[in-house]
Amino acid sequence: MSEPAPAKRLYIKTYGCQMNVYDSERMADVLAPLGYGMTDDPTDADLVVLNTCHIREKATEKVYSELGKIREMRDERIAGGGARMTIAVAGCVAQAEGEEIMRRQPAVDLVVGPQAYHQLPELIARAHRARGERLAADFAPDEKFDALPATRRPTGVSAFLTVQEGCDKFCTFCVVPYTRGGEWSRPADAIEAEARALAAKGVREVTLLGQNVNAYDGEGGLAALVRRLARIEGLDRIRYTTSHPRDMDDALIAAHADVPELMPYLHLPVQAGSDKVLKAMNRAHTAESYVRLIERIRRHRPDIAISGDFIVGFPGERDADFEATLQLVREVGYASCFSFKYSRRPGTPAAAMPGQVADAVKDERLARLNTLLDEQRMAFNAATAGRTVNVLFEKAGRHPGQLIGKSPYLQAVHVTAPDRMLGRIVPVKVEAANPNSLAGVLEMEPA
Ligand code: SAH
Ligand code: SF4
Ligand code: F3S
Repeated sequence: MSEPAPAKRLYIKTYGCQMNVYDSERMADVLAPLGYGMTDDPTDADLVVLNTCHIREKATEKVYSELGKIREMRDERIAGGGARMTIAVAGCVAQAEGEEIMRRQPAVDLVVGPQAYHQLPELIARAHRARGERLAADFAPDEKFDALPATRRPTGVSAFLTVQEGCDKFCTFCVVPYTRGGEWSRPADAIEAEARALAAKGVREVTLLGQNVNAYDGEGGLAALVRRLARIEGLDRIRYTTSHPRDMDDALIAAHADVPELMPYLHLPVQAGSDKVLKAMNRAHTAESYVRLIERIRRHRPDIAISGDFIVGFPGERDADFEATLQLVREVGYASCFSFKYSRRPGTPAAAMPGQVADAVKDERLARLNTLLDEQRMAFNAATAGRTVNVLFEKAGRHPGQLIGKSPYLQAVHVTAPDRMLGRIVPVKVEAANPNSLAGVLEMEPA
């Protein structure tokens, strides 16, 4: 006898940043009381949610092609006499171009922006009466967080926790200030309650999320929040992302020196190494001030792994400017990185700037930058070989008897270890380094 299926099935596909991953989990939490259980198979779903990203043109276009596929799936199902399928678009594309989505893809039943997803149940009910609901553009995250269910259903030992949303920085290439609104911080009490609930369900590591997480402006800033969460029993690892160099204050840097729960990993995007380009990007820092900042952080925490984001081919970027980016990368030495070709986003100031760079030039620069970044990543991993690092085991590996965990530096570590070590943090001796992972052995016999 098979288990009775859940009353309704929900399929969510997530694009973009970790904030969207968190939002997707919370949408599932909001819908669970209505009888929606998760499925991995969209053909089987009563409700399909695409949680979208607007950051680059490619990300946005993916949404429309995916919608085309889902529409076909739905039409086939209805033709075969199957049940209805409701199609919802959430996230940053929903916020930025909700009306266009409804126009370009009539199969879409509803569109919901990132600050309104707590209203999904009501929107679905309305969409079932008549198509055409579109809810976006009110940036009131406090209302959203207040309305979310207090319970979460964490799916592992590591969880995301949004503490800040939005961005006031207006980098000239970026859509985020328009899709997510201004900077807003959740009250520390609510964050602590959520973190405690996660810890009670076996979560050992939280990653605090924000578009500019170090702009968190609850009392004492992000440093105070980190110290507060570090006291929670069972919560042994704290991370945060993404930070802006401008908001990296002394208190947060100091926390890296003396809060053992705060992991030695910092994602601090710089975008470019030429001051001319940084100015045109409205980054409000120079290459020099960024390098000095990294030095200061390393004085407090010498082993910290630094990661970053880069854009190549920003309007006006000449060969010499790009060389300055390579030079900055050599000076900093990154443990990992994300690099992108500049993508022209409608409505952003950079889209209208003169000196747009040819795609072939962007390709060439990206390839050169990636070669250097790959070398640095490999060098960082190689430097871990022979050392003993604490690993939090998160999931089963591909081979039987193998587990995969994370080092403090966010490296994936493959280890032969029994399943009962899942969720535990144990010392592992690293024996081999690969470009994307490490292999190691348990330092002690498993207890
Ligand atoms: N708030 C974060 C992350 C923003 S989006 C920050 O300021 O660092 C993540 C990354 O996408 C950015 O750091 C940037 O490198 C990249 N990005 C943003 N807009 C882009 C665009 N128009 N073209 C290419 N990459 C872009
Ligand atoms: Fe975008 Fe800049 Fe804000 Fe980051 S700081 S989200 S890149 S505008
Ligand atoms: Fe994309 Fe929105 Fe995140 S544009 S990167 S999903 S904030």
